[in-house]
Amino acid sequence: MDNEHIQEHGLVQGEKKELVSKCGPVGRAVIRNLIKEAINSMNKAYAPYSGFKVGAALLTAGQKIYTGCNIENAAYSPSNCAERTAFFKAVSEGERDFMAIAIVGGDNGNIKDYCPPCGVCRQVMREFVNPGRFLVILARSEDDCLVFFLEELLPMGFGPEHLNN
Ligand code: THU
Repeated sequence: MDNEHIQEHGLVQGEKKELVSKCGPVGRAVIRNLIKEAINSMNKAYAPYSGFKVGAALLTAGQKIYTGCNIENAAYSPSNCAERTAFFKAVSEGERDFMAIAIVGGDNGNIKDYCPPCGVCRQVMREFVNPGRFLVILARSEDDCLVFFLEELLPMGFGPEHLNN
């Protein structure tokens, strides 16, 4: 994926460099692979009620990838989003250091648009990451994604540090 394929969501020319440097140590090949893993996971979604399938792939600082899909329930409220599945899998394996998450979703697994994380998932991410560094990658394909810092999607979020001072 070259730089043009990472969309700039309204950034002006001078800020494009910032977007490229934003990805920092998470290079294009890594981003493509994360998106591929998110798509694979989406295809395992259990979403018989909404029909909307979501997949996520979470990258640790140690370059491991934890995937997750949404898992719905007949009682509705116990349903879990793809992003939280990925985070809970990783945290339950002892991971605490995360760099990026790629997210894909669509009706019956047909990706037509970017799939932004719900507010609850943003808050779960906030618990475990540095919001000014952690990347949230919203993808329509391996070659088409938007990249945000969590801080942009959850400004002034409440986090663990607010309880510790
Ligand atoms: N969903 C996710 O898995 N992640 C999100 O961030 C948005 C919504 C799931 C929940 C539910 O199973 C389906 O998509 C429709 O809301």
